[in-house]
Amino acid sequence: MLKSAPIGVFDSGVGGLSVLREIRARLPDESLLYVADSGHVPYGEKSPEFICERSGVIAEFLLEQGAKALVLACNTATAAAVAELRARYPQLPIIGMEPAVKPAAAATQSGVVGVLATTGTLQSAKFAALLDRFASDVRVITQPCPGLVERIEAGELDGRATHELLQAFVEPLLAEGCDTLILGCTHYPFIKPLLRQLVPESVSLIDTGAAVARHLQRLLAERELLAQGPAQAGRFWSSGEPSQLSRVLPVLWGEPAPVDALLR
Ligand code: DGL
Repeated sequence: MLKSAPIGVFDSGVGGLSVLREIRARLPDESLLYVADSGHVPYGEKSPEFICERSGVIAEFLLEQGAKALVLACNTATAAAVAELRARYPQLPIIGMEPAVKPAAAATQSGVVGVLATTGTLQSAKFAALLDRFASDVRVITQPCPGLVERIEAGELDGRATHELLQAFVEPLLAEGCDTLILGCTHYPFIKPLLRQLVPESVSLIDTGAAVARHLQRLLAERELLAQGPAQAGRFWSSGEPSQLSRVLPVLWGEPAPVDALLR
């Protein structure tokens, strides 16, 4: 495998761009490919079988584009599909992501941690195992957030509807005494400024994008796969309407870029 080969990253939609930004910041010499499965967003309310099938289709596509590693920039897809993808491609570095329960359990002072995530993530066996492993000394309150991903996909990061929806999700967590909130979905870092307005300064907000980028760096270094640069321009595909992804890229990715259709 060539060091200069790109890294393939995907999510159900635009959420994974929050992870892609962290990867670009940490690994500026790497060429990046990104697939938004926007034709099938949200994953949060879909069956694990469906998500697993879509993840397989996208992984195959990214490998055809020459990816040397895969990042599942989606907690829901990781819960449903990472084990199967690893079994299918045993030689390939595959990085998934999961809600940051371990750091949150270490950080909380009140002993009460809130998890904002999709229904799929919260209902998964992987999440149950994560709680068993790291949350035995704290109380964890889970909050599924149906509807929130759709607002973020539409680029409504701070409008009234998003504000009201988020408030309804967060208030019960604060009422229970949570001092640490886990952003357990890669879409949510994009509404962190709004969330900050809704919770006291003393409440910590924890997401995992930066940790995933560090993990990816370690894994590529171990396998002597780190690129030496210069990176190619990022390439983007959407299984939904490419113009919709193009419209939000300047805000969510920080610069405009062409988007191609993923016809699979
Ligand atoms: N961004 C995804 C996650 O991290 C999934 C959002 C969705 O499609 O429901 O879980």
